[in-house]
Amino acid sequence: MGVLDGKVAIVTGSARGIGRATAELLTQQGASVLINDLDGDAAEQTAREIGGETAVHAGDLTRPGAPDELIEAAIGAWGKLDIVVNNAGYTLDAPIHKLSDEAFQRMLDIHTVVPRRTCASPQRRSATAARRSSARSSTSPRSPARWATRGRPTTRPARAPWSG
Ligand SMILES: NC(=O)c1ccc[n+]([C@@H]2O[C@H](COP(=O)([O-])OP(=O)(O)OC[C@H]3O[C@@H](n4cnc5c(N)ncnc54)[C@H](O)[C@@H]3O)[C@@H](O)[C@H]2O)c1
Repeated sequence: MGVLDGKVAIVTGSARGIGRATAELLTQQGASVLINDLDGDAAEQTAREIGGETAVHAGDLTRPGAPDELIEAAIGAWGKLDIVVNNAGYTLDAPIHKLSDEAFQRMLDIHTVVPRRTCASPQRRSATAARRSSARSSTSPRSPARWATRGRPTTRPARAPWSG
């Protein structure tokens, strides 16, 4: 039995490297994991080798619409989505003043625009809303069961500690 039994995860750029290791750890802990990568063959091989419950959705996530399709693929395979690890990326090994605008933009896109799109995907928002609504209807706001799963309500400080 793993701590992530029944959970559904996406790990972007998980055909190799840190993403692959993360996907493997998640499957070992019981999660179902959607493997994504630019390199479809390597993604398929990773899915075969790491074991556990996996599916593959290959493709370049910087393509407009690709993050939505990725979220849809996970929800289509397992009916929900609990975890997204925005790992896909790379650095171009050159001094910043020697990078072309286009190369620099590509790096920004995969490291910042794509994670934002996976978080803001309408599919993801509606899956999260459905989960919250089902959690609300199964436990009243003050019931001990709700505290047990979400932690006791705490009092917020009047001012944020960093606001001076
Ligand atoms: N390795 C390090 O020391 C280090 C340090 C700081 C940050 N990082 C970041 O951690 C992440 C993983 O690093 P890693 O060393 O495992 O890299 P890696 O190159 O081994 O793996 C990254 C994977 O992301 C995939 N990928 C790249 N662009 C993609 C895209 N547009 N769509 C889908 N997949 C894409 C690649 O095909 C590759 O398989 C990267 O975002 C990297 O920038 C790594």
